[in-house]
Amino acid sequence: MIRKFRIGDPIPTDAVVMDIELSEGSIPYFDTDKEAKELALFLEEDDKVFGLGETVRGINKRGWLYVSNNSDDPNHTENKHSLYASQNFLIVFSKKKTFGIYIDTPGRVSFDIGYTFHNKMSISFEDFDADIYVIDGDSAEDIVSSFRHIIGRSYIPPKWAFGFGQSRWSYLTADEVREVADKYQAAGIPIDMIYLDIDYMERYKDFTIDEKAFPNFPEFVKEMKNRGIHLVPIIDAGVKIEDGYDIYEEGVSGDYFVKKENGENLVAAVWPGKVHFPDFLKDEARAWFGSKYKILTDVGIEGFWNDMNEPAIFYTEDHLNEVFDQIDTYKGKNLGVREFFGFRDLIAHISNNEADYKRFYHEYKGRKIRHDKVHNIFGYNMTRAAGEAFEKISPDKRILMFSRSSFIGAHRYGGIWCGDNHSWWSHLLMNIQEMPALSMTGFLYSGADIGGFDSDVTEDLLLRWAAFGIFTPLFRNHSAEGTRRQEFYRFENIPAFRNIVNLRYALVPYLYSEYMKAVLNDRMLFKPLCFEYDDDRSSQIEDQLLLGESLMLAPIYTQNATGRYVYLPEDMKLIRFRSFDDYDEEIIEKGDHYIEAELDEILVFVRKGHVLPLAEPSKGMGDVTKDDLSYICFEAEPSSYELYTDDGISRI
Ligand code: GLC
Repeated sequence: MIRKFRIGDPIPTDAVVMDIELSEGSIPYFDTDKEAKELALFLEEDDKVFGLGETVRGINKRGWLYVSNNSDDPNHTENKHSLYASQNFLIVFSKKKTFGIYIDTPGRVSFDIGYTFHNKMSISFEDFDADIYVIDGDSAEDIVSSFRHIIGRSYIPPKWAFGFGQSRWSYLTADEVREVADKYQAAGIPIDMIYLDIDYMERYKDFTIDEKAFPNFPEFVKEMKNRGIHLVPIIDAGVKIEDGYDIYEEGVSGDYFVKKENGENLVAAVWPGKVHFPDFLKDEARAWFGSKYKILTDVGIEGFWNDMNEPAIFYTEDHLNEVFDQIDTYKGKNLGVREFFGFRDLIAHISNNEADYKRFYHEYKGRKIRHDKVHNIFGYNMTRAAGEAFEKISPDKRILMFSRSSFIGAHRYGGIWCGDNHSWWSHLLMNIQEMPALSMTGFLYSGADIGGFDSDVTEDLLLRWAAFGIFTPLFRNHSAEGTRRQEFYRFENIPAFRNIVNLRYALVPYLYSEYMKAVLNDRMLFKPLCFEYDDDRSSQIEDQLLLGESLMLAPIYTQNATGRYVYLPEDMKLIRFRSFDDYDEEIIEKGDHYIEAELDEILVFVRKGHVLPLAEPSKGMGDVTKDDLSYICFEAEPSSYELYTDDGISRI
């Protein structure tokens, strides 16, 4: 049962696609305090709280303050309150009561979940204007399904996007991309995608190609496709200000950019230097920007990643001028410590500055609205621009799309990646812990940068991370400029990487099948254990996941570990893969076990009564077939498994 309540006069977000009648009366479970702009809930000792999508900290969110305020913050340390997304859905979970709540507002919301007071959850608002959905159901997954039903079906990528993808900021030339493809193929490691980061563009101008570095781009796209590799370019939110650049000129003449209070286009700076931001909230601007993807689909591109769409702002022209003026006032002064800190902060806080988000306006549903009031739906609407355009540009075939910034609603148009993580063991754990919350909020085609984006990776971290990454729909190795190169073929133990990636391809029939069933039935792909098992231990497990109907994962995420403790809520069959066709099977009894796993071994647990289908080896997704599957069953007796298949490319 879903009940909808309205507080104040909320700005619509289009996150919910179903019409639900407003309920009268007070919001159940919560005390509403209008003055404090707060909804408060008493948390019982054993209440757990799940959800909120992409955030720091564990699967159970209790014990921290999370703020929905989409931020380009490349340090995802546990002291952070906001990342790139606002996914305001959560479930309060205990034996006595379990219910879901979705807070639908494009503005800032704080979720203090036992942070200030251990037994209190406080949801507070900058503006007390929101639609609140309270969702009851028989089980946590039932509640998720009801929620997912009202927000619309999750995005379906082409099946080839379940292959492996290699990325780097940046492969600078076509030859460098060829070399990556050559080396993967020579190492016998299947690969389906190579990502093009910002340097494929001519001076970071959206929808252009650097012709010197990538001569005859359409031919190059074809050449790579003939090798079974899709090139997937990045698209950034900012449009370079440059006379003669058609996209910029069209944006100005069509009045498609966000404006300052005085009506001038906002001037901000990102990779290309000075840019204007398209007003993705304005229907005409969204349609215009979306139509530009055709420039690249026309030359054979079939997938994109949208970036810097919080939006990330290095600086605005106006703020920069203010900073220069302020710096002048410090000149020649004997700076006391406070003044010095103030001086230092001027520069330190120049990027993504809160004040900048109040300097510009959108034209949204016939109203002029200051950006900070709708900040969290900006990236969503960039993804929507692409998604809506793809329906016209490519009415029959699916196009790959995932974004950095997101809000519920964007899940209908694309997936997400979890942004600029680090090559840290703790971020492998974070990747594991984020997946169920992303499933809850509908972002099914998701994953993190395998191996970590920033910092230098090590071979063991990359092996363990890849061994988890093969289970996430988006399986992409990506890293930052200036960090150690981390293509799999650069390391000593190439056979181990080959086995891991081969296993991914062997798992595709299962992954795709479970993915599609999750999409079509509004189910979760990744679940916390307690969504299936009602024992107390299961509700405390923070580092094991259920994946689809058959599998439990217990990834290794610590340095030098040669095994780990695994909790089995029931008897399961452990499959110890050394490669897709070399594995041992062993039934393990319910309870706690220390399970060894060498660096080149991958563990999978098949749940009681369930089946894991496996494909034959393949050189790439073009090769994965639904024929010739083998089945690993929990019992010798055949159990049933519903395998979903389709052509992997037609829109459904
Ligand atoms: C941002 C993205 C990252 C990308 C970089 C350069 O930091 O999050 O993935 O590589 O920009 O485009």
